[in-house]
Amino acid sequence: MEEKLRFALQAFGDIHKVATQTHTFDIEAVRRDFPLIMREAQRTPPLSYLDNAASTQKPQAVIDALSDFYSQDYANIHRGVHYLSQRATDLYDQSRETVRRFLNARDAAECIFLRGATEGVNLVASSYARQRLFKPGANIVITTMEHHADIVPWQLVMEGTGAELRTVPLDGRGVLDEDAFEKLVDENTVIVGLCYVSNVLGTVNPAERLIAAAHAKGVPVLLDAAQAAPHVALDVQKLGCDFLVLSGHKIYGPTGIGVLYGRRELLETMPPWQGGGDMIMHVSFSGTTYRGIPERFEAGTPHIAGAMGIAAAMDYIRNIGIETIAAHEHQLLEYANAAVADIPQLRVIGTAPGKAGVLSFIIEGVHPHDIGTFLDADGIAIRAGHHCAEPLMKYLGLPGTARASLGVYNTREEIDRFATSLKKIVRFFL
Ligand code: ALA
Repeated sequence: MEEKLRFALQAFGDIHKVATQTHTFDIEAVRRDFPLIMREAQRTPPLSYLDNAASTQKPQAVIDALSDFYSQDYANIHRGVHYLSQRATDLYDQSRETVRRFLNARDAAECIFLRGATEGVNLVASSYARQRLFKPGANIVITTMEHHADIVPWQLVMEGTGAELRTVPLDGRGVLDEDAFEKLVDENTVIVGLCYVSNVLGTVNPAERLIAAAHAKGVPVLLDAAQAAPHVALDVQKLGCDFLVLSGHKIYGPTGIGVLYGRRELLETMPPWQGGGDMIMHVSFSGTTYRGIPERFEAGTPHIAGAMGIAAAMDYIRNIGIETIAAHEHQLLEYANAAVADIPQLRVIGTAPGKAGVLSFIIEGVHPHDIGTFLDADGIAIRAGHHCAEPLMKYLGLPGTARASLGVYNTREEIDRFATSLKKIVRFFL
C-alpha cells in the first residue's frame, strides 16, 4: 500500500516555517525494514507497537551495522597499530561524522559518544554546572515537563551547594509559560535544562526562542532532544544551544549509545568527568594530562559497535526524511485524536498546538495500568505510569497516564484497533 501524504508543514507552531509539500511515503516498505514489526504483525492478535517514546524498534540496516562490525571489522579503537584496529578507528570516526551531519554541528569533535541522553546530562551537570553552583544565588532553571534525566542529575550536583532548582510552569494544554521562563532565568542562573519535545505531553517547545532569551542573560542552555530527535530536524547552529543530548534507542538505533553535543568553546573549558584509558595524554603517579575533545570525555573502551549503529539509524532517518516521518506521525496523531474523540470518559493530556506524535490520556475511573494491561491482551503495546516524569504527574494532579506514542512504521489500521480496544475497556470497566 502506498500512502500519498499531502500535508501542510505547519505542525510545529511558530518555530517551523509553513510550507506545503507532497511526500510519497511507502509505509509497507518501511514496515518491511523492521523484522520485529513484520514478525509480530503475523501473530494473533497482531502487535500494534505504540510505545515508541519508550523505545523504538530497529530497522535491518541498524541490526546489520552492529552485526557487520562484530563479524567483519571488530577490534578496539585508537590503540592498535594493526590494520583491524585502524579500520575500526576509521569506522568509529566516520560514525562521529554522521552524527555531526545529523546535528549540523560545526565540528565532529563537538559530538561525544556516551551511553545515552541521561549520561550526557550527568556529564554536563558534573563537569560544567557543579563548580559554578557555589556562588551565592546560584540556580538552575528547568521546566515542569522535564524527564527525570533532566531533573535528577542537576539535583545530584546541587547537593550541599545551596543552589536553587527553579521550574517553569505550564498551562492546561501543556504549553510552557514563556513569561515565567524569562522571569526565572536571571544573572545567577548557571544553566537551563530544556526538553525540546515532552515525552509525556508531546509539546514541542519553542527551543530557538527560549535559547535566545536565556543567552540574552548570558545563560547557557542544555537541550534534551531525546524525544525530539525522531520527530524534528535538529540543527544545533540554528538552535544556538550550548549542549544537546540524545539517545540512540529512541531514533531506531541501539541501546547504550547516545550523543552529547557541546559547543567547542565550552567543552574545552570543562574538566574530564571520568578518568581512564584513551582520555589521557600522559599519566604518571605524580599527575596526568588529558587529551582534547572529544576523547577527553570518552574514557575507556567505548560502545564502538553502538557508534556504528547510531550512525546507521541517523542515515536511515535521513534517507526517509525527518519531515516525511514527522508528517506521517502528525497525520496519524490527528487520526488517533479523531478515533478516540467519541469516548466521553477519555481525556487527552497534552493538547499543545503542533504537538509531536505522543497521545497521553486518562479514562476516568480506570487506572492507567489497567488500560495498559487490557490493551496488551488485544495486542496493543503502550506505556502506562509516570513516564519518568513524576513531578509533571504531580503538577497535573494525576497518578499517571496511559500513553500511545507513534513511530515511522505505525499505520491507521493499528490506530483503529487501538480505538476499538479502548471502547471495549470503557464497556468493561464503566
Ligand atoms: N523516557 C522513556 C519514556 O518516555 C523511557 O517512556
